[in-house]
Amino acid sequence: MSFINLFELEKLAEAKLEKIAFDYYSSGAHDEITLRDNREAFNKIKIHYKVLVDVSKRDTATEIFGQKISFPLIIAPTAFHKMACKEGECATAQAAKEAGTIMCLSTLSNTKVEDVSRSSEGNFWFQLYVFRDKSVTEKLVRRVEKAGAKTLVVTVDAPLLGTRERDVRNQFQLPKGLSVINLLPDNKEELPDDKPDSGLALYFNEMLDQSLNWKDIEWLASITKLPIILKGIVRPDDALRAIDCGAKGIVVSNHGGRQLDTSPATIEVLPTIADAVNDRIEILMDGGIRRGTDIIKAIALGAKAVLMGRPVLWGLAHNGYEGVCDVLSLMKKEFDLAMALSGCASVEEIQRDLVSLK
Ligand SMILES: Cc1cc2nc3c(=O)[nH]c(=O)nc-3n(C[C@H](O)[C@H](O)[C@H](O)COP(=O)(O)O)c2cc1C
Repeated sequence: MSFINLFELEKLAEAKLEKIAFDYYSSGAHDEITLRDNREAFNKIKIHYKVLVDVSKRDTATEIFGQKISFPLIIAPTAFHKMACKEGECATAQAAKEAGTIMCLSTLSNTKVEDVSRSSEGNFWFQLYVFRDKSVTEKLVRRVEKAGAKTLVVTVDAPLLGTRERDVRNQFQLPKGLSVINLLPDNKEELPDDKPDSGLALYFNEMLDQSLNWKDIEWLASITKLPIILKGIVRPDDALRAIDCGAKGIVVSNHGGRQLDTSPATIEVLPTIADAVNDRIEILMDGGIRRGTDIIKAIALGAKAVLMGRPVLWGLAHNGYEGVCDVLSLMKKEFDLAMALSGCASVEEIQRDLVSLK
């Protein structure tokens, strides 16, 4: 492994990627305050480790929605993996399988959902944007059901896309030959002539349903048997409404600081949301996970598992499939060490009293 931690890896990836791609992956909305806060909030939380606990036999595995994973980290849905390496989402899916965890595939992938399903041997989740045209949404749901996705992760923090100023400055566009392949009209490999890839943000923004509301989630739950997880919740009252709508889980997330700038750091809102939910549904969280200790903190504060976004893209850019394998094995190793040094032999032993918020 040519990097010792994920911060070093980010620098290696930056050196390999075109600036326009690195900026797309790394940027946050507007002043990037939430992007920074997601990370800094973890540093403020301290772990009050236990001593003289026999940690000679440790088990990092856990279960999420009935699926066993080798440690509580899942690959977050991120767009356009083929900008990082040519195998794109298939490499990510294979690395997740190799590590014994799950990849959540983005609606905005550069790879067909059926190909990712094959690479993951059918063990993947699908992140869904709900579109203005319900028939487009329904068609996509049917397609991912058929491809074997295990859950639908519905992103609810994006009625429109946030403004990432670095992308505006760079006039971001997908490199030639790449497309949002799962959204193209049947059997087409490129966007319609009047919507070239350079107009991607506009095209996608036009498709998003700005009127998306709780009734649409009920509608979605009525048309599919797949478990629905709502991604992008930062308030306890929204978490409670998610339960009422039939969601099986939520992701406490602010989209990695890419949507509403100055929204709160996710790890800071997690405990009050966990209190409100009171174990009725499963809670995941993401935003700023870069260390094994971050996973411990998230679990102690009420998450069943975490999702991680950007470092996976850095792994892909640095060394494709192997790079993502290295990212996942590093995080698992760090998590295992953090568990041992905290006096926890299993994930269940990570409880709220292990951390303090100041
Ligand atoms: C480049 C990039 C693309 C993303 N694309 C999507 C997406 O298509 N759908 C979605 O729900 N979230 C998307 N996200 C948000 C991630 O799922 C996740 O919430 C975020 O990356 C977590 O923060 P982290 O990168 O600090 O780990 C994206 C994030 C990044 C960085």
